[in-house]
Amino acid sequence: MNNSLIDMRNVSLEFAQTEKSILKDISYKIYAKDFIIIVGSNGSGKSSLLKIINKTFKMSSGTILLDGKSINDYLQKTINRMVKTITQNCHESLFMSLSILENYILIKQQYEPNLFSMSYKAERDFLSEYLLSFNAKLSLKLNQSVEQLSGGEKQALVLALTMLYPPRILLLDEHTSALDPKAADKLMRLTKQLVEQHNITCLLTTHDLLDAKHYGNRILALRNGVIHHTIEQEVKMTLTQQALLSACY
Ligand SMILES: Nc1ncnc2c1ncn2[C@@H]1O[C@H](COP(=O)(O)OP(=O)(O)OP(=O)(O)O)[C@@H](O)[C@H]1O
Ligand SMILES: [Mg+2]
Repeated sequence: MNNSLIDMRNVSLEFAQTEKSILKDISYKIYAKDFIIIVGSNGSGKSSLLKIINKTFKMSSGTILLDGKSINDYLQKTINRMVKTITQNCHESLFMSLSILENYILIKQQYEPNLFSMSYKAERDFLSEYLLSFNAKLSLKLNQSVEQLSGGEKQALVLALTMLYPPRILLLDEHTSALDPKAADKLMRLTKQLVEQHNITCLLTTHDLLDAKHYGNRILALRNGVIHHTIEQEVKMTLTQQALLSACY
């Protein structure tokens, strides 16, 4: 019986311009509620793997089954609701010149086209209350344009807006890497809490081996586009930082 949520079979990626093999023959199954930490050197293919799963990139060969059905048979619109991605570049997720409230309304309109029948004040009040648990300062800045927020506030906002309609699969591509250690830690803890609360299956790329050790139930180490190591939770907890470094790189 195959009950994996993401089933990658012999997935390869190369770009016609460069003819370089970015991902080579990746076969790997991810199950519902897995939290996979993907590590590997710069250019090892971590982001590319995520971009194949959200259909930004089209694999050159191989198959990916999402919930038992080929990813090629899903409409992009369906994928976009099922699989959400947060990167370190918040401008990929937010309209920078619009306010927090306007960004929120745009998302609500996508999911609930009958929004106009709802009260503007009620929406404002909801958003103000909702954002409190992400970053209390956001609640006070609903009319401020997003570009005026700090990096930490922007990433907290991206996470908050992403979680308004929780996806089944969340792809996090170094989403805390531009933040100071305290803000990064806060966002990681919040992310973990939300992932568990909503039973989300999560893939996270990081260069932070402390996070790799602390979060997730498995580490997937990529090297030159191939999976060269996987480490289960029970094993990773026993490894020193140095041993983890040697195993992953
Ligand atoms: N759109 C593209 N066209 C051509 N080559 C690309 C493209 N995107 C990525 N690559 C190449 O694919 C390889 C893997 O890149 P990728 O961004 O997946 O690595 P990464 O492991 O995420 O690296 P980093 O840790 O720096 O984020 C690199 O050699 C990169 O130059
Ligand atoms: Mg990357």
